[in-house]
Amino acid sequence: MHIGLRNVKLSSFLLLFLLACNREEKLPDTVTFSEHIAPILFKECTYCHREGGTSHFELKTYRQAKGYATAMAFVTKEKMMPPWPADPHYTEFIGQRILSEKQIKLFKKWVTDGLQEGDKTKLPPLPQYPFGSMIGTPDVRLPIQPILLPANSSDHFVLVKVPFELPSETYVSTIEFVPGRNNVVHHVNGDLVRYDFNKKRNVFDGELSTNMVLDTTIKLAFDKLGLANDDGTYPALQKSTVNYLPGVTAQQYPEGIGSFHLPRKGAFLLNDIHYGFTKKEVLDSSYINLFFAKNPTTRPLQEFQLGTIGVSPVEPNMIMLPDVEKKVWSKYRVPKDISILTINPHMHLLGKSFKAYALKPDGDTIRLISIPRWDFNWQYFYTFKKMVKIPAGSTIVAEGVYDNTRKNLNNPFNPPQIITDQNGSMKATDEMFQFIISYLPYEPGDENRSLEK
Ligand code: HEC
Repeated sequence: MHIGLRNVKLSSFLLLFLLACNREEKLPDTVTFSEHIAPILFKECTYCHREGGTSHFELKTYRQAKGYATAMAFVTKEKMMPPWPADPHYTEFIGQRILSEKQIKLFKKWVTDGLQEGDKTKLPPLPQYPFGSMIGTPDVRLPIQPILLPANSSDHFVLVKVPFELPSETYVSTIEFVPGRNNVVHHVNGDLVRYDFNKKRNVFDGELSTNMVLDTTIKLAFDKLGLANDDGTYPALQKSTVNYLPGVTAQQYPEGIGSFHLPRKGAFLLNDIHYGFTKKEVLDSSYINLFFAKNPTTRPLQEFQLGTIGVSPVEPNMIMLPDVEKKVWSKYRVPKDISILTINPHMHLLGKSFKAYALKPDGDTIRLISIPRWDFNWQYFYTFKKMVKIPAGSTIVAEGVYDNTRKNLNNPFNPPQIITDQNGSMKATDEMFQFIISYLPYEPGDENRSLEK
């Protein structure tokens, strides 16, 4: 009887499912560029596939799209494009770029229907992408020392100092990194250098950039950049204040949340800018836009991280033996109620998958993120649509799987070698396991507060 009931349930589910699929399936008789493909490209793809975008080729016109039609059908089916490694069925975030099953089928059907252009009058207008800022007029623009990249080169990791001196101290709500016109910037992660009052006379001391050659230690690089206080001690770093990844607009929280005090003088330490492949020689002139907050913040953002140099260790350890797949984890018990806003999973080239969740004291699970196929190139800062409350006594669990075999096409070594976590080394060929969490101490109602601007 029990089984019978289940079967009834199952078959009605199946019916509903088939009905739902049927509705999804309704594709146009003939897929054309103007009517069906262009709207998807303009909404989900041209942000990166345009001049000044992060990709090497454009997808704005019929001719351009036609040339990539088969490739587009493939990368969309494989969910490689648009890049969004997090599983949207596990958790959803602001700004996620996900194609529907129907949109994916349209790409394929366009190819089998013969790549027709269709009625040009049905073409939607090409989106206009602003230059200089994606979010508005900044209060201050800080230029970054231009960096020269030789032709036919890739993977430059440059440490850059961006010193500033403002008329007065202030509060900043958003920091936007804007890549130079010829966008070759692969990603940026930067901190704010907070000097103690009167401990640093000249923040413009030292060099403005240094290339992270393989044997350079962080200490050497910092000395070169003149980061230390006048008495030789090191100033505090406010982590992850400047972030950039192609296709991602700068982090903006609603008024009153997340803004922070900016001293009259200090520096941003871009630690580092990673430059991707460039065919021609390029002089990159990127810059940083600062947007001031109207009011001093009432709820400054706080941050902690699990794993490498974090609040909880990596278990069992970060020794990756050659030809082995290995799972590691890190667990942290949250002492008080917190509200999570943004999370950032971090691994390097051996990363295979990543998952994080919180176990509540009552045994329930709060899902945070699942990345079934880790992609070193797309390490987003994921902001929840609404804050996620984690009650005191919960345990946050982050799990990562590493693939140190030859099957991993990103493995920096062939044959595979022992790879370890060099105490937080930034080198892409060392490994890391981190789960970075931006949060606020919980206040009632947080879980209903939208984080969308
Ligand atoms: C966030 C930026 C971004 C978005 C959004 C994006 N792409 Fe890409 N795409 C890239 C980058 C970077 C590459 C790597 C190749 C390069 O640098 O040009 C790439 C590669 C591709 C390739 C592989 C080309 C080849 O044969 O090597 C195709 C096809 C493609 N994208 C199609 C699309 C389509 C279709 C969409 C929208 C549905 C899309 N992309 C959205 C950045 C993006």
